[in-house]
Amino acid sequence: MFFDRPDSGELAVLVHLELSSLERQNDPREFEELVLSAGGDPVHFVTGQRQTPKVRYFVGTGKLEEIKEAVKEHEAQIVMFNHQLTPSQERNLEEQLQCRVLDRTGLILDIFAQRARTHEGKLQVELAQLHHMSTRLIRGWTHLERQKGGIGMRGPGETQLETDRRLLRARIKAIHKRLDKVRKQREQGRRGRNRAEVPTVSLVGYTNAGKSTLFNMITSSNVVAQDQLFATLDPTMRKLQLPEVGTTIFADTVGFISDLPHRLVEAFRATLEEAANADLLLHTIDCADDERARNIEQVNIVLEEIGAHECPFLMVYNKIDLLPSFEPRIDRDDLGKPIAVWLSAKTGAGTDMLLQAITELLAQDMFHETLLIPVTMGGFRAKLFQSSAVINEEYNDDGSSNIEIRLPRPDLERMLSAENITMNNLVVVKTAS
Ligand code: GTP
Repeated sequence: MFFDRPDSGELAVLVHLELSSLERQNDPREFEELVLSAGGDPVHFVTGQRQTPKVRYFVGTGKLEEIKEAVKEHEAQIVMFNHQLTPSQERNLEEQLQCRVLDRTGLILDIFAQRARTHEGKLQVELAQLHHMSTRLIRGWTHLERQKGGIGMRGPGETQLETDRRLLRARIKAIHKRLDKVRKQREQGRRGRNRAEVPTVSLVGYTNAGKSTLFNMITSSNVVAQDQLFATLDPTMRKLQLPEVGTTIFADTVGFISDLPHRLVEAFRATLEEAANADLLLHTIDCADDERARNIEQVNIVLEEIGAHECPFLMVYNKIDLLPSFEPRIDRDDLGKPIAVWLSAKTGAGTDMLLQAITELLAQDMFHETLLIPVTMGGFRAKLFQSSAVINEEYNDDGSSNIEIRLPRPDLERMLSAENITMNNLVVVKTAS
């Protein structure tokens, strides 16, 4: 009942203004894609220019008339703005236009509501929707015909809207509690993984960059890939065996978008935190998109916000099949370290290079040797076993043992310093090939 969809696309009039007071404009094409993703059927696009929004209707009275005409002419059911509206602007517009009005935040929330797959994702969306609605509860919904479903009407729905703020607050509190629990469970899972010293590679990137397609290609799994924004809402994980690195976890994450409402970034923090904890981020980019520089910047802003900006990363320029005669390749820095891979997740061209670059980056940080461990290093030996770093152990006559280990170098360094041992104290018996 929470995620009811209308049977057919809702006829929608779209409104986008260039506001010269704004440093950066929202992209009108992306807006149209968002509307399509939400299941809307754009019938008319109203555009215009203003210095700043008007207080009462956001648009001026002339533009308001134009929107009214368009609604009438196309019998539109909804008017969507590519901007944030205040609750009173939404109310005033609905009174004037006699149909539902949705702002950019409401639209994005609706898409999130449709795409959320896991329990946690659904809870997060519901929370963000409830917060968005709590500021709009005061409006008189009775002036509108009540409809079931429809863009922006999914989620907590009209019955919630009719309840009072006290109930809403109670619901928000209950969801917070459930989310905390889910997060704790996930945190435990993550600690479990860290204990096992399994490196994690997270795919991050702007929405529609092709992360899920790439994820599928790499892991040959069946994660949903659609030409829709936000096809992925919850991180999906797969294990993969990489040469020299061993078991590696790949995680697909939710796509980023510019102007993601702050509350939503908050709500999705837990999901995105998964990315922040990765050993390597694959920053995936649609290299055929004119807006690619801006999208990269937007992703970097979000990464910084969730504290993932210091994570090692590799740029992945996807969709090279859309560029004229472009061959897959690895770009390297002066030291020969891979910094970018150009590929096509769709055709598969270059995905082998990506795996090679990932292996190089992760392996250079892996310690894989056979060490001679004397009996005096019992504590260190125990720690190696606890962290699942031991691949093989052979005993020597004097009670010492030769232990083949493989683990990330920083973890080894941490263990050694906890035991007051330095790298120089270690005796390498055999170097792993
Ligand atoms: P979100 O879930 O919104 O974050 O999207 P995503 O980054 O996971 O994108 P997804 O994998 O769903 O792909 C988006 C669209 O781009 C789909 O239509 C894919 O078929 C298409 N696509 C992905 N990779 C390529 C590619 O290498 N070449 C071409 N031409 N299209 C691609």
